[in-house]
Amino acid sequence: MTEYTSQIDSIREAFEHEFERFAHLRLVGATRGELEGMKRDLDEFAIRQTGKKSAIAGAMKLVGRVDSENRAEFGQLVQATRQSIESRLEEIRQKLTAQISCVRIEDERVDVTIPGRRPRKGHLHPITILRQRIEDIFVAMGYGIESDREIETDYYNFDALNIPEGHPARESQDTFYTTDGFALRSQTSTVQIRAMERRGVPIRILAPGKVFRRDTPDMTHVPMFHQVEGLCVDKGITMGHLKGTVTEWLKKLFGEETSTRFRPSYFPFTEPSAEFDFSCFKCHGTGVCEDDRCRPCKGSGWIELGGCGMVHPNVLTACGVDSKEYSGFAFGFGLERMAAMLYSIDDIRLMYENDVRFLEQFR
Ligand code: DAH
Repeated sequence: MTEYTSQIDSIREAFEHEFERFAHLRLVGATRGELEGMKRDLDEFAIRQTGKKSAIAGAMKLVGRVDSENRAEFGQLVQATRQSIESRLEEIRQKLTAQISCVRIEDERVDVTIPGRRPRKGHLHPITILRQRIEDIFVAMGYGIESDREIETDYYNFDALNIPEGHPARESQDTFYTTDGFALRSQTSTVQIRAMERRGVPIRILAPGKVFRRDTPDMTHVPMFHQVEGLCVDKGITMGHLKGTVTEWLKKLFGEETSTRFRPSYFPFTEPSAEFDFSCFKCHGTGVCEDDRCRPCKGSGWIELGGCGMVHPNVLTACGVDSKEYSGFAFGFGLERMAAMLYSIDDIRLMYENDVRFLEQFR
């Protein structure tokens, strides 16, 4: 029996000897990594001390060999030793785990008092700002805003607008073509046709949108730009309505004192046709600004804006509208030129270079 109990003594001694380094661990001040290292070390030690191959597990097997008289006592000794080893290990394990979670909470703490990072607030592009101002004016006059496709067929871009194949007007509107016979629209006038086909007449629409031309970029040209198209068709519409409408929206945009001027011109889809100008918003038509030649109007007092006219009967007919019963007017102009004048931008390419230092000026 003593031979067996002395084995238990040496198991306990061996445990105590190695356990020493865990008993005096300095937990406070240790990093999370160090603590996790200690925990791995402890787990590994615990397996060696209490696992299947441990000395104490071996001692359990001895219980059966002890004579029956002392067996119960020995059994209790082994059991008590095992329990004491386990509880000492458990005590340290709990301390370690508690310290690890303490350090983790500290690591992951969010300081809610640190000032936040302000999101960078965006704003609308100058072309969008101008487009929306114009749209608002027309909506107030009872117009619907119509947007339509940018990829078109020759028919909508030219034929239906009274520009047959071979017509010289096609030349100035050379655009980009796809290999299967489509073209990027060169003018928003295409929407006149689309809208009348879809909605019929009477109709009052404003159609802003992108258009494309095969132009080499320079200070006043870009291959993609924006136009705004207007169309009004009803019974008894005259040139007077056209002049009144164009004058009214320009007054709304530039002020009541603005006057307009219509010069005879030619467009295949209108008859008669005109170009419209308005009195300069800077010099109010005098051509002089701060004792110098006014810049936006180049000293003329007038700013040329766009084309207009009475919708050609051929266009109405192409849309299935009876041109004897209905008449209408249309107009169109470019937004980039207008924005360039309004904001004194010398080079319209700047609007598409996406340089925020430039764009931020138009908040
Ligand atoms: N589509 C023409 C262009 O791109 C502008 C235009 C002129 C539109 C006269 C019209 C119009 O509706 O009546 O040059």
